[in-house]
Amino acid sequence: MRILGIETSCDETGIAIYDDQLGLLSHQLYSQVALHADYGGVVPELASRDHVRKTIPLIIEALAEAKCTKDDIDAIAFTAGPGLVGALLVGSCIGRSLAFAWGKPAIAVHHMEGHLLAPMLEDNKPDFPFLALLVSGGHTLMVQVDNIGEYHVLGESIDDAAGEAFDKTAKLLGLDYPGGPRLAKLAEQGVAGRFVFPRPMTKKPGLDFSFSGLKTAAAITIAREGNDKQTQADIALAFQDAVIDTIAIKCKRALKETGLKRLVVAGGVSANKSLREQLAILMKNRGGEAFYPRNEFCTDNGAMIAYAGMQRLKAGQFEPLAIKAKPRWPLDTLISVSP
Ligand code: KG4
Ligand code: ZN
Repeated sequence: MRILGIETSCDETGIAIYDDQLGLLSHQLYSQVALHADYGGVVPELASRDHVRKTIPLIIEALAEAKCTKDDIDAIAFTAGPGLVGALLVGSCIGRSLAFAWGKPAIAVHHMEGHLLAPMLEDNKPDFPFLALLVSGGHTLMVQVDNIGEYHVLGESIDDAAGEAFDKTAKLLGLDYPGGPRLAKLAEQGVAGRFVFPRPMTKKPGLDFSFSGLKTAAAITIAREGNDKQTQADIALAFQDAVIDTIAIKCKRALKETGLKRLVVAGGVSANKSLREQLAILMKNRGGEAFYPRNEFCTDNGAMIAYAGMQRLKAGQFEPLAIKAKPRWPLDTLISVSP
């Protein structure tokens, strides 16, 4: 079976074709980074308009890359939420309408389910159950994954998401949008130990996160002494270390509480090299293993949506004719693919 996946929840138009026997046949991505750069963040209306321009041309390119026609496609999966409502509506309308026109089933995919299943596109895939740490621009979630669609949210951010904190701190350091990867690059030049920021919510029990205070601590330090390049790099490193350390402490706690031995790390921030290294060490020390998607599938992409959609297709879970876009959509309201 073959499925077309459409991702338009934020500032990337991602289209992919996935075959359950042959794997990924094509993967097209258009990033709107340049479009939003002047504004220092995603402008929802511009994002929606750009998805309108890019989605259908990318679908045509993806079909050509996979050397197939609409007749070879068995279903269409699209991100229905969570995300920016206008952006979601573009992918949802196009996906649902194409499915109707082609006479194929349509599948509404949860964006975070896409992220947490992204490591399944790799050769080294985790078995169920596993612990998933989802760290993106919009979400920070710790999830116990018993099977596809069987998700128990153990903890989440009570304020800024990890990626959002990276982006806001990067902005304070004068770095362009999207700041996360740029801050990580700057941190490579930093001297460890010159600044130390708090590890929020690690002293009290629980698996929730809070990153907005950390951003404020960085803001105060930047305002006080962040004028020269070296100091900025030192602050970037201290900030990154604090985020990673906080995440590692919470992962360790969650692994202990659940007894799980496998950790999946996904979402945009999982592209962070230091985070990967620290979590790989944590898992090795515990006799477990950490799993990540390849770098290009850490951030938003169509491949993860096609893969997640395929699992629902196999379980016979399709959408009715109504077009679904859910800007808010709790992950643990999804249903299992098991009968
Ligand atoms: O998953 P994603 O592409 O979009 C959302 O669904 O939010 O995640 C984007 C987020 C941004 O906040 C970006 O700055 C962050 O992931 N990010 C990083 C790195 N690469 C992307 N943050 C830290 N280090 C990185 N290397
Ligand atoms: Zn995402």
